[in-house]
Amino acid sequence: MADLKGTSITWLGHATVLIVTPKGTTILIDPFIEHNPKYPKGYKLPDKIDLLLLTHGHIDHVGDAIPVAKTHGPIAIGMVELIGWLHSKGLKDDQGIGMNIGGSHRHADVTLTLTEARHSSSITDGDKTIYGGEPTGFVIAIDNGPTLYHAGDTTAFSDMQIIRELYHPDLAMLPIGDHYTMGPKAAAVAARFVGAKTVLPIHWGTFPPLVGRPAELEKELAGSGVTVIHTEPGKTLS
Ligand code: NI
Ligand code: MN
Repeated sequence: MADLKGTSITWLGHATVLIVTPKGTTILIDPFIEHNPKYPKGYKLPDKIDLLLLTHGHIDHVGDAIPVAKTHGPIAIGMVELIGWLHSKGLKDDQGIGMNIGGSHRHADVTLTLTEARHSSSITDGDKTIYGGEPTGFVIAIDNGPTLYHAGDTTAFSDMQIIRELYHPDLAMLPIGDHYTMGPKAAAVAARFVGAKTVLPIHWGTFPPLVGRPAELEKELAGSGVTVIHTEPGKTLS
């Protein structure tokens, strides 16, 4: 597994991941808590969260964004349309940074970049469906630490090679569940394109259709030198 150099990563089920950098910057990605059957029971998030990264507008990624923003005080970062919608739902003016694909933002010891993803990103708001901007992933480059890539919901696409060329991620969090995202076979191609030597499988096992499993990804990657992390929600990797 990649040397995390003092950074810790905790998968909280589905696409929800908590990262703490060596300097103590706390980052929560795609909060899906209340209705996430795989969220570890009773798991307590840090009182203060610095950054809330949102990959797209689907409810299993932004479902708990507003409660987390209110309780833990983070700055929410994502596509401009998605952050705009969150402002209309009570996100404070100074708590949102709307960006677009390819753009980077610097906060403390972290540089964040929005990347492409192949998916959709509508927002269901009551009986309305709202345009949420394009779906994204994030590259998270930590000073004196690893560079991480959270792919969001996506299939594999050849431009993931540009992510490798630009950012050289050490560890990639890739969806493997199938049905709404790629499954293990495409995730193995994604791992190769992105060039990360360690993969943390996400977006699997949450609901019955998400059938992809880490062991299948591992089989697809046999002999490639890529390590697939086997962990469970709530367990911290460091
Ligand atoms: Ni989605
Ligand atoms: Mn999803």
